[in-house]
Amino acid sequence: MTKIIGLTDTEIGRIAQPLETAYTLPPQAYTDPQIYDQEVAHIMRKSWLPLARVDQLPKPGDFLALDLFDQPIMVVHGTDGTFRVMSRVCLHRAAPLIEGVGNRKLFSCPYHAWSYDTSGQLIKAPHMERADGFSETECRLPQLKTEIWNGFILANFDPDAAPFAPPVQSLADYFKNFELADMAVARTLEFDSHWNWKVLVENFMEAYHHIATHSETFEPAYHARDSKTPDTDGPWSILHMPAASDEMPDPASHGPTGALEDWQVRDLFANVAFPHFLFGLQGLSLVWYQVLPQSVDRLLLKIHICLPKSELAKPGADEIVQGTAEMMDFIHREDIGANDFVWRGLKAPMTQQGRLSPLEKSIWQFNQWWLNAMAQGEAVNSKKTNHTY
Ligand code: FES
Ligand SMILES: [Fe+2]
Repeated sequence: MTKIIGLTDTEIGRIAQPLETAYTLPPQAYTDPQIYDQEVAHIMRKSWLPLARVDQLPKPGDFLALDLFDQPIMVVHGTDGTFRVMSRVCLHRAAPLIEGVGNRKLFSCPYHAWSYDTSGQLIKAPHMERADGFSETECRLPQLKTEIWNGFILANFDPDAAPFAPPVQSLADYFKNFELADMAVARTLEFDSHWNWKVLVENFMEAYHHIATHSETFEPAYHARDSKTPDTDGPWSILHMPAASDEMPDPASHGPTGALEDWQVRDLFANVAFPHFLFGLQGLSLVWYQVLPQSVDRLLLKIHICLPKSELAKPGADEIVQGTAEMMDFIHREDIGANDFVWRGLKAPMTQQGRLSPLEKSIWQFNQWWLNAMAQGEAVNSKKTNHTY
């Protein structure tokens, strides 16, 4: 029997049911700091996390700093053309080297001026001549395993992690006409939200809530009842929301749609590579929801609106981007309202697991993956414990 700290056998059994009889995760899976710590250990530090788009760092020396689960890191476009993700904590006395975004050929520590090149190699450590056996060449910032997939730069804390792409091949095939690698971030909306990260992921992954939360926005265009989720063969899920109307959008407002088939232009897709690589597709636009969990009850969200570079180069692109940004902001504020009240309910002492709707197949797929990832982590932990004692 699967064991997860903080969940009863009954609760686990209800989650693991077939979709038709399945329940949600229990409330403590969202609110218990101990379960969150287990998630960080078993999921976040073992999974591929999307950190940036290649187009956000176009020039050698471009960097972007992020904090991931207490680890200050930076994504760097090296002067050798390689994209790397590495710790940005100085090897001397642990000062973070830099914040924000920018361009540097050298990262010079603000504390005692040790300087690193764009590959993380220490180049100069002032006045260290009398430190016996010290050699700059042996000092390099720790690197995370890094992979580029369709223009996204992903990293994994686990040095033994299997590559990202093979298990999501079917997901990539579903969207191969969209040419995601040729897109660029045109606008980013930022939100600081006080919910568990899974509240946002689940909200992103089902269209059932269109009937109430988005009754005047999404529901008339994409009926909740028509949404569908294919079976999955890997750590991913697709929510396919067919358009309510067969009419094609006006090509004048939409640009040429290249290799896209009609249904791909009309319909809306919300996709996730587990745990929280969320991206939506509609026609020519890609919307990447970058989820940055901060604690059990807080997450930062960056909604990146992306369009093909060829579209962004055209006159009038600014208006299209502005219109999309305003729409995404409006829709997300509807979702914030829903997530706020769900979060209040999840913290209530009488709240228990609820039944899932068959329209929430994506959540069910996520839950099975979550259960498995958490149980595997705990099995490894208990083996380690047995070994130690
Ligand atoms: S902590 Fe960075 S140079 Fe001292
Ligand atoms: Fe929504």
